[in-house]
Amino acid sequence: MRVAIIAGTGIYDIPGVELKKQLVETPYGQALVHLGQGSADHLVFLARHGPEHHTPPHKINYKANIKALQLLGVEKILAAFAVGSINPNIPPGGLVVLDDFLDFSSGRPLSFFDGGDSGVAHTEMSQPYCPALRAQLLNLAPEFDLKLHPRSVYVCTNGPRFETPAEIRMHGKLGGDVVGMTGVPEVTLTRELNMHYAAVALSINWAAGVKPGAIEIVREGIAELRAKLLSLFIETLQKPLALDCNCQTSVMMMHPPAHHSG
Ligand code: HPA
Repeated sequence: MRVAIIAGTGIYDIPGVELKKQLVETPYGQALVHLGQGSADHLVFLARHGPEHHTPPHKINYKANIKALQLLGVEKILAAFAVGSINPNIPPGGLVVLDDFLDFSSGRPLSFFDGGDSGVAHTEMSQPYCPALRAQLLNLAPEFDLKLHPRSVYVCTNGPRFETPAEIRMHGKLGGDVVGMTGVPEVTLTRELNMHYAAVALSINWAAGVKPGAIEIVREGIAELRAKLLSLFIETLQKPLALDCNCQTSVMMMHPPAHHSG
């Protein structure tokens, strides 16, 4: 079994881990991943915007990325996101473990189950992020000198533009805590493939209109937080899952894919 780290803005490698580039062919196109070497040979690293941040949020090939991880034998994934803060209790520099999301993206390929030969299925979403992995992140965080907000609702916008203040007021009223552009369909595609997936978001700015003036991206202390977060991810992925979760039984198959054996 392999494990994976998916990283977003600002994280393009894993300090202390030797990585080797690998292109993976999938039915949805190519994905570029990095395979851990030596004692990290069970670890796959994926920079969702590409290693030099070439791909904008609305152009990421989410299906190729997640399928490539499955083809490599990945069953557990921890994902990092840079986000803006809607909730005034999560100032920039804050880290939150996601426990739910609101999807405001549009026009993105959403599902591996597109009908016809690919089958039809509905995926249960009452716990979109693996509760067992979430609990482990929260338990281990103090060892890495990290304080994680235990719950947070992620709003996914389409980007690449930032939101307007009116949009952010709306997202806040609907229960959103943080906002980013890449969380969906990444999480839903992992659930369709029965993977365990949890995510931590690092706030790098107040979302539009939460504070007066233009958006300012905070840089101070962020590199250190990212390094600690990656260490927490590596440690968490090494532990066996201790709690029950329904990540592997959440797909309700209405009509199996043509190549499905079961
Ligand atoms: N909005 C959307 N995506 C983001 C933000 C934001 O304010 N900050 C970082 N990613």
